[in-house]
Amino acid sequence: MDEKQPSLSPEFSFAFDEGFAPLPQYKPAGNTALYFSGLLDEPLKLREDLTSGCGGMLWPAGLVLAKHMLRYHRDELRHSRILELGAGGGIVGLTVAKGCGTLDAPLYMTDQEEMGELMEHNIALNGLESCVKGKILNWGEPLPQEIVDFKPDTILAADCVYFEPAFPLLMQTLQDLFTVSPIATVHFCFMKRRRADMQFLKTAKKLFTVTEVEDEDRPIFSREGLFLFTFTRK
Ligand SMILES: C[S@@+](CC[C@H](N)C(=O)[O-])C[C@H]1O[C@@H](n2cnc3c(N)ncnc32)[C@H](O)[C@@H]1O
Repeated sequence: MDEKQPSLSPEFSFAFDEGFAPLPQYKPAGNTALYFSGLLDEPLKLREDLTSGCGGMLWPAGLVLAKHMLRYHRDELRHSRILELGAGGGIVGLTVAKGCGTLDAPLYMTDQEEMGELMEHNIALNGLESCVKGKILNWGEPLPQEIVDFKPDTILAADCVYFEPAFPLLMQTLQDLFTVSPIATVHFCFMKRRRADMQFLKTAKKLFTVTEVEDEDRPIFSREGLFLFTFTRK
């Protein structure tokens, strides 16, 4: 297992090229352990396996958002109703569940069908079956009734802006979530890879209140084209 030991932001070591970072390169399946610069006592264990889809590996915005949530929101998260969109292998949701120790409500990690098995694998790998639920949620489709009833107040989305045809679908799902849960806050992190990615943000600014949030790692991650925002209902 690759051990990533605590040090100053070792996670932020992604290739970045003249403002247009490439999509991450293929890497073979394997396990990774993350401590988030000492913010976790016990490492988060993640299987990365791209055979199920692009969400099967760690993405830069996932690392930034997971660390941000641990560093700045850990206490309030214990009492929140958390839903993750486009969770992939589950880096953000599982980090939050692991870092919080106990959660008042189950945390929903969601993605497309293809990612279901890897989400379940990583939930079990970290012994988090009692507090994390994997669920299929396709952007643009009606929200599953279980999620409507859950009324999440904290929505996590990392690296979900990378495929232009999916932008309106994701936007629709965010709007649907604000309809069922008007008080929700979306914690949203993405990497600008193409000019079109900023179009997503432009649309979000029309529909939601978009706030760029403080983070001591911002000088590092913004150099790499990463943006961290919250969205709330206007
Ligand atoms: C780039 S990966 C990011 C994974 C993870 N959040 C991270 O930061 O490592 C984007 C994720 O969005 C999911 N996704 C893409 N289109 C989707 C859709 N229409 N509905 C639901 N999930 C989708 C993919 O399956 C993938 O897991």
